[in-house]
Amino acid sequence: MSKLIAPSVLAADFANLQRDVEMINRSDADWFHIDIMDGVFVPNISFGMPVLRDIVKHATKTIDTHLMIVDPDRYVKTFADLGCDILTVHYEACTHLHRTLQNIKAHGMKAGVALNPHTSIDVLKDTIQDIDLVCLMSVNPGFGGQSFIENTYNKVSELKELINNKSASTLIEIDGGVTDKNAKQLVDAGADVLVAGSYVFKAADKIKTVKDLKALANY
Ligand code: DX5
Ligand code: ZN
Repeated sequence: MSKLIAPSVLAADFANLQRDVEMINRSDADWFHIDIMDGVFVPNISFGMPVLRDIVKHATKTIDTHLMIVDPDRYVKTFADLGCDILTVHYEACTHLHRTLQNIKAHGMKAGVALNPHTSIDVLKDTIQDIDLVCLMSVNPGFGGQSFIENTYNKVSELKELINNKSASTLIEIDGGVTDKNAKQLVDAGADVLVAGSYVFKAADKIKTVKDLKALANY
């Protein structure tokens, strides 16, 4: 399978959101990565349902939604109704993770689990076969534009080994500080999906930046 690029809309210009969504539509990007923050699970608030609804209206690619919120079960149906294709919840925010995963799938979406930088891969040993995507946080969640945490490479390799050992088909997504400097090494370690926010949206030529990142990930 080719390696996927998921620009994070958090870094877009919210006053020109339709323009930026259409730019991603035209680019070589594969998914839209949507960060929902509640100011409780993470120390920041991003945007909520009305903004997501308008993004979905214009987006022509997979909607990959990353919930950084407490008690995400409350909103699973809402995000399904809004048109999300993948719904990722944080391991650290779910008391009954297995039940939450079943709930996401019952609503017709792929189920993802995100791990904070401090959370060990070991905690997924008993659920990996039920998880469509693991989002490894390569920064502490809450903000775009932070520096990549180097220990992520080890975590990708460990996760890849767990997936192979359990014959699971889970995708590995990397989220935070992804640039041309780490993309190849992440893919070599086993990453399938690279999220990139500021690296794409702060670039002068965004379309070319996505194209080059995708080429680097599929060398
Ligand atoms: C961080 C978010 C990321 C963020 C990535 O909490 O989950 O998706 O938007 O942004 P960059 O690529 O700028 O680190
Ligand atoms: Zn994210």
